[in-house]
Amino acid sequence: MQVKAYAKINLVLNITGVRVDGYHELETVMQTLALHDVLELSPANCIDLAVEGADLPSGPENLAYRAADLLRRETGCREGVRIRLIKKIPIAAGLAGGSADAAAVLRGLNRVWELGLTREELLKLAANIGSDVPFCISGGTALARGRGELIEPLPDLPPFGVLLVKPPFGVSTAEVYRSYDQTVDQIEPRCLKMVETIRQGDTDQIASLLDNDLEAVTTTMHPLIGAIKKDLLAAGARGVLMSGSGPTVFGIFHDCNTAAEAAGRLGRGNNWICATKFSSPTL
Ligand code: C5P
Repeated sequence: MQVKAYAKINLVLNITGVRVDGYHELETVMQTLALHDVLELSPANCIDLAVEGADLPSGPENLAYRAADLLRRETGCREGVRIRLIKKIPIAAGLAGGSADAAAVLRGLNRVWELGLTREELLKLAANIGSDVPFCISGGTALARGRGELIEPLPDLPPFGVLLVKPPFGVSTAEVYRSYDQTVDQIEPRCLKMVETIRQGDTDQIASLLDNDLEAVTTTMHPLIGAIKKDLLAAGARGVLMSGSGPTVFGIFHDCNTAAEAAGRLGRGNNWICATKFSSPTL
């Protein structure tokens, strides 16, 4: 069986508090992109993961492996699986690539192993793997709260074009959140305004409401992010933002062709550039 694992961006990411467990309370609007990894699942006696296209561990440090292992432990299932993971989503990029892989393993093995887990049961398991994994189970456009695990689906957005620019370095999400705690900026949250706008179908407004409380933190560590934002705006983006804890920056364009044309004009040295679009895949 083949399953796809879709990347995400955050259209808004507002931090509304710090929890006693050290995690941050979020209000974030997340959006699935058409960009995806591919996972091939085939029968085996144990959990056996092989990764292609990226230098990633193939044991329990990999979220795809962890998802299969958790599923076996939680359901008592004795089956094994061979997972061939073909990476297309850049790693440590703020695009939830690892979380998407984990979610695809949960969904795929639920079918392959005939476990019959409900969406709610899958979401609960997903939250044990990482904060972005529940959204990756749900997909499309959604509001996420809590530490990211409380998902409220929103109406689909049009397939806007998206240009992703990934600087030639990764960032540690934990480090970005830690640095956020040392900043004192009070930023006006925009998440609920974005949700209202999406519910009203007023999609022209979306680009003007993009907002990420972590962007200033990661940009202080890596000023290149600010330069990429300027370049994307100059190339015709209707709105630009860093995704998640970064460092990937995205620009929103009218459609995929316009995004691809802008990609041709930008052609940034070592930076990884990809034109893709909003997507609401049937998961
Ligand atoms: O949940 P996940 O393992 O993906 O989170 C990675 C790190 O990001 C956490 O260890 C934590 O430091 C930070 N984080 C946070 N608040 C969230 C999500 C993540 O502080 N809501």
